Amino acid sequence: MAPSTNVDPIKTLDKNGQEIKSVGFQRFGFDSEVPIDLLRSLYLRSHYVLSAPVEQVDNVDTKELADHARFTQGLNAYQSKSIYHPETQSISYTTLTRFPPVKLLPPSERKRILVTGGAGFVGSHLVDRLMLLGHEVTVLDNFFTGSKTTIGHWVGHPNFEMVRHDVVEPFMIECDQIYHLACPASPPHYQFNAIHTVKTSFMGTLNMLGLAKRTKARFLISSTSEVYGDPEVHPQHEDYWGHVNPIGPRACYDEGKRVAETLTYGYHRQDGVEVRVARIFNTYVNPHDGRVVSNFIVQALRGEDLTVYGDGKQTRSFQYIHDLVDGLIALMNSSETRPVNIGNGDEFTIGEFAELVREIVEKVQREDGVVPERRVQIVYKPIPIDDPQRRRPDTTRAKESLAWQPRWTVRMGLEEMVRYYKAKMAEGSI
Ligand SMILES: NC(=O)c1ccc[n+]([C@@H]2O[C@H](COP(=O)([O-])OP(=O)(O)OC[C@H]3O[C@@H](n4cnc5c(N)ncnc54)[C@H](O)[C@@H]3O)[C@@H](O)[C@H]2O)c1
Repeated sequence: MAPSTNVDPIKTLDKNGQEIKSVGFQRFGFDSEVPIDLLRSLYLRSHYVLSAPVEQVDNVDTKELADHARFTQGLNAYQSKSIYHPETQSISYTTLTRFPPVKLLPPSERKRILVTGGAGFVGSHLVDRLMLLGHEVTVLDNFFTGSKTTIGHWVGHPNFEMVRHDVVEPFMIECDQIYHLACPASPPHYQFNAIHTVKTSFMGTLNMLGLAKRTKARFLISSTSEVYGDPEVHPQHEDYWGHVNPIGPRACYDEGKRVAETLTYGYHRQDGVEVRVARIFNTYVNPHDGRVVSNFIVQALRGEDLTVYGDGKQTRSFQYIHDLVDGLIALMNSSETRPVNIGNGDEFTIGEFAELVREIVEKVQREDGVVPERRVQIVYKPIPIDDPQRRRPDTTRAKESLAWQPRWTVRMGLEEMVRYYKAKMAEGSI
């Protein structure tokens, strides 16, 4: 059934009030630009639809397709429509009849790119972008926190390969660029097995640097703002060495990333490996990671009160995923070998942030004609150990050496996340 045509397409405005129609840019000889709607057709979608009683199927289908059309502007030809049958708790998967269109690059421009952790949140968005741009992409992932469904729409594509592998073990492949992202990123995930997190950061990075050395590939590691710990300097500049508790519950991640950076520069100095270090600040996240944004959105959509840990005065800055992917690609293709902060400097207190999430969820519910039973409240609970009080990137270096700065406002990014979470809830996966 054709989607209804009288739905308003989603308009996203950037910081200067200009409509965002594409993401990426041509920089350092690498073109990373793709239309936003093509990308949205890949991630703002349900992985499967619920089967409904026969008499309701037509309505459900129309509504679902109409919702879908708002995000994807008719690009649903590239959708996988698996069906979940609640009565038998079974799922009927489907494969794509057609892959999304990818650029046809001449062999001289087509790169062989390895993305470790490519099935995770950041990795899957990076993979979508690199695939649409026409490169050959290999994903290496042990699916600890990532899922095959995030990149399932590429399986079988001639430019794509997916390998189940733990980076703690050596791996050999010919490639031109390595984006080394493999590492659980949220506290509940990286604390689940602290020793394996340290092994992933140390041995995983060692293995991937060894690979970069052998193949002469350029190596980019996704480091983190956590290397600054609970900082005494605001905002955090790349030259700040940090203030990290080496034995606290977060140390497996913070110290893991610090030693991963040490290894990276060791290989650079000793073996001449071409390295890039991205210190990523908080990025809007996937629904299951237990971090502040996802908790707030899920709670608000479920009509539950929002939980703020501490007095809500601790601040965070959040960037949207497309800005991060732009930054990672720019850094990889630039000549900048020093660490580079990639984040959005718009600082919000956690309390303000809870208010913003509540307001946006209410807006989206109004648009959808949903009337909540009551207004959700914001409740305060004791703060967890080692939770940094304040974190904000100084992104001068990214601006100067990559000509990169965030385009997405916190509000627009959040709005898109709320819609994404809603789609996930509709399919029953949150
Ligand atoms: N999302 C953020 O806000 C943020 C902030 C700072 C840094 N980072 C860094 O970016 C990278 C990606 O983060 P994310 O948010 O996508 O997290 P994620 O948990 O969604 O993705 C991590 C991916 O790595 C895989 N993985 C974990 N350990 C592995 C191992 N030993 N071998 C192979 N694969 C493994 C997971 O299965 C998953 O697919 C991480 O290195 C993280 O430290 C993320």
